[in-house]
Amino acid sequence: MEIIKWSKDLETGVEAFDEEHKVLIDTINQVYSLMREGKREEAKKILIEKVAAYADKHFKHEEEVMERYNYPKDRLEGHKKMHHFFVNYLIETLLPEIEKGNEKKFNEALNFIVGWLIMHIKNMDADGYGKWFREKGIEVPDKMVEI
Ligand SMILES: [Fe+2]
Ligand SMILES: [Fe+2]
Repeated sequence: MEIIKWSKDLETGVEAFDEEHKVLIDTINQVYSLMREGKREEAKKILIEKVAAYADKHFKHEEEVMERYNYPKDRLEGHKKMHHFFVNYLIETLLPEIEKGNEKKFNEALNFIVGWLIMHIKNMDADGYGKWFREKGIEVPDKMVEI
């Protein structure tokens, strides 16, 4: 069962980031499947240990690359703020509730993650740095070794 489907409009054109986005989406779908199968404990574990940790690493990777290629400062700052908001909200607000066994919060967290991620990848990644890199003819060779 999938809660997010990959689509062309999520493509940034930066191979490394497209792959990382796909891993994030796959992992979220895994959480969703486990929830649907009633395996809530397993789903929580993956949400906490994989999704939150992976998102954080992925964001740092994007920020590092945007900085390296001189992405306009104001846009970079705005982008970083969005990443920061997401990680903070997830880690400081949603995850503690989930860990307390608050199931309603778990569903909320999953819906929030899906909604935010799709919007962010589309508007700030693909139509943001993706478009900018394409316009500038910049090819980002980066690959994440292990995440
Ligand atoms: Fe991203
Ligand atoms: Fe981003």
